Amino acid sequence: MVSGVNMAVNLGGIAMRNPLNTASGTFGNGVQFEGFYDVGATLGAITCKGVAAEPWVGNPAPRLTELPGAIMNSVGLQNPGVQGFVDTYGAYLAGLRAKGCQVICQVAGHSIEEYVRATELFEELAPFASGFEINISCPNIAKGGAAMGATPASAAEVMAAVRPLTTRPVIVKMAPHDVAEIGRALEAAGADALSLINTIPGMAIDVRTRRSRVARPTAGVSGPAIHAIAVRMVWECAQAVSIPLCGIGGVASGMDAAEMILAGATAVSIGTANLYDPTCAPRILSELTAWAESQGVSDINELIGAFEC
Ligand SMILES: Cc1cc2nc3c(=O)[nH]c(=O)nc-3n(C[C@H](O)[C@H](O)[C@H](O)COP(=O)(O)O)c2cc1C
Repeated sequence: MVSGVNMAVNLGGIAMRNPLNTASGTFGNGVQFEGFYDVGATLGAITCKGVAAEPWVGNPAPRLTELPGAIMNSVGLQNPGVQGFVDTYGAYLAGLRAKGCQVICQVAGHSIEEYVRATELFEELAPFASGFEINISCPNIAKGGAAMGATPASAAEVMAAVRPLTTRPVIVKMAPHDVAEIGRALEAAGADALSLINTIPGMAIDVRTRRSRVARPTAGVSGPAIHAIAVRMVWECAQAVSIPLCGIGGVASGMDAAEMILAGATAVSIGTANLYDPTCAPRILSELTAWAESQGVSDINELIGAFEC
């Protein structure tokens, strides 16, 4: 898009043509959206679905239910393993890079050893990856995931184990709690950037059957209903760290993305909105660009953290 405002940002070493990214697990791996718009020519980056060293089957169905202004999912990080992911998507993702869209590969694991193994495999098999996002915040798996990111010490342990394995940028995807304290620990352990938030654990009960509306008792809530919580957490984390942040949570408009940037996010990911409005990203980009122009700046970077209280 031609604009009077520079929209390029740098997310911890990942140079993005504009701040728009996609939230892991809500955008397939990009190719599923090609029928709606030219992904590689539009987005600053995409973040792929979480992938582990070996394939995972995920959780039983039902995995998803609708709530007012939100959805609740219990996918449980179903994935084909790094080799299967590279075989299926590698050529497409290399093509995105060639078009100037950065590709962030997400690393999943149940234990430190599994995060290490998955990162080693990505490092070897995924030359198309611009960087990696370590998911220590999935609320839908019994081992690993959010448990690994629950305390500053456990989060930093994962980061410290992964850090020596790659020279490419490493982002850590954080759970929606203690983001200042855990963010500081991750920065000290060598994270290049942080992304927040993952889904918020919730419950939805079918009162006729007295059972959960998904197959597990609790699941992750996402969508517009969590946006204000996510903005608050981005702001809290931005006060605590000096590495860049990617703001995630209920972004459905350019104004929502602008709020994230004012709260301190360098990049902004679109998540659940992709699922109910698959054409939303180009619209959000043009709304965000128009907002930046209306603020009288020549560079969107001037607006990062420009919230006045
Ligand atoms: C169906 C679904 C699958 C998801 N899968 C992942 C995943 O694999 N890894 C991850 O870190 N987050 C995953 N998430 C969380 C999103 O990336 C995002 O952090 C969260 O949905 C909040 O953003 P939103 O409100 O814009 O959706 C998933 C969310 C949904 C709805």
